[in-house]
Amino acid sequence: MFTTAPIKSRSTEVSVDLFEAIEILKKELNAVILAHYYQEPDIQDVADYIGDSLGLSQKAASTDADVIVFAGVHFMAETAKILNPDKLVLLPDLNAGCSLADSCPPQAFAKFKAAHPDHVVVSYINCTAAIKAMSDIICTSSNAVKIVNQIPVDQPIIFAPDQNLGRYVMAQTGRDLALWQGSCIVHETFSEKKIVQLQMEYPDAEVIAHPECEAPVLHHANFIGSTTALLKYAQQSERDQFIVVTESGILHQMQKQAPNKLFIPAPPMNNCACNECPHMRLNTLEKLYLAMKNRLPEITLPEDIRVAALHPIQRMLEMSAL
Ligand code: 13P
Ligand code: SF4
Repeated sequence: MFTTAPIKSRSTEVSVDLFEAIEILKKELNAVILAHYYQEPDIQDVADYIGDSLGLSQKAASTDADVIVFAGVHFMAETAKILNPDKLVLLPDLNAGCSLADSCPPQAFAKFKAAHPDHVVVSYINCTAAIKAMSDIICTSSNAVKIVNQIPVDQPIIFAPDQNLGRYVMAQTGRDLALWQGSCIVHETFSEKKIVQLQMEYPDAEVIAHPECEAPVLHHANFIGSTTALLKYAQQSERDQFIVVTESGILHQMQKQAPNKLFIPAPPMNNCACNECPHMRLNTLEKLYLAMKNRLPEITLPEDIRVAALHPIQRMLEMSAL
């Protein structure tokens, strides 16, 4: 019905009114659109819920929709499928992966685990279902400290795959964690030198940073938190200027929720757009519309992996609520 109609979106000049067409498909499918803050503005604007990884998992766990359209990356949509085996979970572009998840292949991780017997495995949600299936508890950037603090102090812990979040958790909890040496290509790109230059230029600005950033960058932060925590902090702070050290997609919600404040995206080391996640940005409004129209591409995974990965996710949801 919509293929022949003219397309209208803020990001393109082509033919169908995508905003209207997506609304209609949402009702037809009884679908919910869950989006991460790193998605392009048009996608954030059609989403029913925008959140950080914890919020998105909690929404996925509680939705009564028949179809979950996940506007994020593969591991996020996979988590939604693990929680909802009987629902159709769509990802606008199946190639929307994650460099951090890719930095932890299952075979190598199995060897790492074997070299650390008696360790409990806490894995950051930015990992594949296969790694989740090898983990005891999943965490996100918003609950990693809380979860590690709930593990008995004499219990050794492996933390994977993000070494930067792991180091941050070590500093916050005083625990010694066996760290897998993974990292995010976006968060390791920020230039400490350029952030300090920005601080000189905007002396009243607060630096707010995601814990996936490297320690020398976090050292300059007035506040460190997940994407949702950064957004809340910027809204509630009495300051009105912020240097934002995370993927620049979050600025859309920051500007919407605090239109009178100034948000300055932290610059990457090179003069590139490396503060945009190339994986997240593979999704577009057009692909989201087509995914809903065609009910494809769908997330599927082997049932044994799904069942093994479900338990550590459920533990996270329980421990987050404590
Ligand atoms: P959060 O939204 O949970 O802070 O995670 C950020 C991120 O890098 C997602 O890929
Ligand atoms: Fe993965 Fe980094 Fe992109 Fe998040 S921002 S999806 S951690 S590559």
